[in-house]
Amino acid sequence: MGSVVAIGSANVDVIFRVSHLVAAGETLHARDVSEAAGGKSANQAAAEARLGAPARFVGCVGDDDHGRLALRALGDAGVDTAGVRIRTDAPTGSAFICVDDASENTIVLSTGANDLFSPDDLDDLVLSPTDVVTLCCEPPAALVAEAARRAHDASATVIMNASPVAGFDPQTLQWTDILVVNAAELAALVGGGTADDEVRAARSRLGVSTLVVTLGAAGAVIARTDVITRIPGHRVEAVDTTGCGDAFLGALAAGLVTGHAFEDAARRANAAAALAATAPGAQPSYPTAPQLERDAMSSSRV
Ligand code: RIB
Ligand code: NA
Repeated sequence: MGSVVAIGSANVDVIFRVSHLVAAGETLHARDVSEAAGGKSANQAAAEARLGAPARFVGCVGDDDHGRLALRALGDAGVDTAGVRIRTDAPTGSAFICVDDASENTIVLSTGANDLFSPDDLDDLVLSPTDVVTLCCEPPAALVAEAARRAHDASATVIMNASPVAGFDPQTLQWTDILVVNAAELAALVGGGTADDEVRAARSRLGVSTLVVTLGAAGAVIARTDVITRIPGHRVEAVDTTGCGDAFLGALAAGLVTGHAFEDAARRANAAAALAATAPGAQPSYPTAPQLERDAMSSSRV
């Protein structure tokens, strides 16, 4: 079996629970504040490992308490962190997150050590054709492009999450096997909505073999060549949707590397993302394989 390799960003999330999202000029008292490991790529790695896949995370943290928290959380989840560089010249990335009573969030990101992650840092990266590499657009674009190119050259499977979409670099499409976006990201990339014909046309225009559009509680729609498959949503009580997209990515990769067929891996990803919404924080809310089987795969479909 290959391993899942998440290459990119790690942060510590400082999460404020608030009644509503703060307006300009407003001072708002939070109900509470907590810290948890986050960052899109580290989240992907944690989701992968918690579901039992051999997982590696490659990235940069600072030589500080937040860096140690990020590494400890990944280690506890079962992620191999040997490829993490500890930088003395920048702090660990931090995300200041507000989550309101309707489980809406806002995120202010300070990228810190993630910005120092450069293409040269990938020189000793070893990848094999059975590996699945997961990427996102939070790290520097040059790093993401180099990671995608190297993974493609090694014949590994490349899964790209075009999030945050503002950081997306279209040249990475030539090295991407599976592109995962939400409806807003799809609209930003190609315009249009999520009807079957629109998703079919978007896949061919983007030139990837598989396009997955996540629809939150409405599930996901998959275009593989010209075949469209819809994965139904799960009915859950959403508490905090921060990092649900990363849980989807990680669970999709974990499913593929552990031998699940694509559609089955996508169903598991959808279930993992739904479960992640039911508890606070990103990484702390990610399911283990038994939880996924027990709770989400059997829960009612919307
Ligand atoms: O996708 C969620 C993540 O985005 C959070 O964990 C936060 O760190 C930001 O990077
Ligand atoms: Na969550």
